[in-house]
Amino acid sequence: MTLGDRYGAHRVLEPTGALPQAARRLDNASRPFDNEIGLQVSALHITSTSFQRLWREADQEPERMAEAITRIVAERGKFQDPVTGSGGVLLGTVDFVGPALRDGLDLSPGERIASLVSLALTPLRLEHVGRIYPATGQVEVKGYAVLFESGLWARLPSDLPESLALLALDVAGAPGYAAKNVRAGQRVLVVGGGKAGLLILHEARKRVGVTGQVILVEMDQARCQTVLSLGLADVVITADATHALEVARQVVQATGGALADLSFNCASLPGTEMATILSTRDEGEIFFFGMATDFSRAALGAEGAGKPVRMVIGNGYTPGHAELALQILRENQPLRSFLNSLLPP
Ligand SMILES: NC(=O)c1ccc[n+]([C@@H]2O[C@H](COP(=O)([O-])OP(=O)(O)OC[C@H]3O[C@@H](n4cnc5c(N)ncnc54)[C@H](OP(=O)(O)O)[C@@H]3O)[C@@H](O)[C@H]2O)c1
Repeated sequence: MTLGDRYGAHRVLEPTGALPQAARRLDNASRPFDNEIGLQVSALHITSTSFQRLWREADQEPERMAEAITRIVAERGKFQDPVTGSGGVLLGTVDFVGPALRDGLDLSPGERIASLVSLALTPLRLEHVGRIYPATGQVEVKGYAVLFESGLWARLPSDLPESLALLALDVAGAPGYAAKNVRAGQRVLVVGGGKAGLLILHEARKRVGVTGQVILVEMDQARCQTVLSLGLADVVITADATHALEVARQVVQATGGALADLSFNCASLPGTEMATILSTRDEGEIFFFGMATDFSRAALGAEGAGKPVRMVIGNGYTPGHAELALQILRENQPLRSFLNSLLPP
């Protein structure tokens, strides 16, 4: 058998010693090793911060966006936004399951799966880039990808549309963290009411109970109305979270000065760290999920403001996160309908 490294180090072309996420270029040409999974790829779900950045750079022209995606994959052997370093997830049909994996793995060629590891570390080659859906960041493609032995994936459920499942799976780590950490009676703040924010809001509202409070800060007025009508938050603050003092003032007001016990930053655009930090109580916790988060802005900003908050880097993985994200779509039909409305017909 020809075995590759469990974490994919054998596919790193440069720089020497790097692991696939940090690599500049991956080998996307070799056929799958005996401990890898090969996939015929039909769609990419580009993570929001990267999609929006590239979409702006392409002047919202699908052809230029397709060229940018093609160029990145050709240069890097993977889809990784060169500026943000992030990627997304993909949808595909299993083509090959390495013999070294077969014993412990309930997966066969022909099955439809989504990757749960980032495109930023997944060897990928593209033959074609098709339609682009800016409302969700999904892109139809024809290509081939490889998952390493350590690579996580989820079988697509038969009771949910594929693109809806993919949308939820991309951000599954966020509601996964909420499910494990939100407790009854807490005040929970969510900054950014996009796909991740909505799934967190559902989970938080369910878990804080009648004694808790869920607050959303979101700059899009229509989205704020949607959240109120879906009953996902007790308080919705329509504000630009780059205006830290104004947001904190409104959170002080909403919480009677107590501030949030646990905050989630899911904003797709930069500059929202301080609004989240100042809106969280001393010794409270912040889960920075957004890919626009800047480490030094958060760390030095908290220090500068004298805020002893615990700041967690938003790990995209926690065990059970995929099942949880799909379960939210099943248990909250109105939220599912809303997310479905973002998808192409
Ligand atoms: N950590 C991980 O493993 C991981 C995995 C997947 C995704 N992500 C990242 O998580 C973030 C959220 O993803 P998503 O899919 O939920 O994105 P999304 O659907 O685009 O939602 C982001 C939301 O943030 C709002 N927003 C942006 N800037 C804001 C500001 N200054 N003030 C208030 N609201 C603001 C946006 O409002 P508008 O619509 O008005 O712009 C939007 O509603 C992204 O950065 C994404 O790349 C991280």
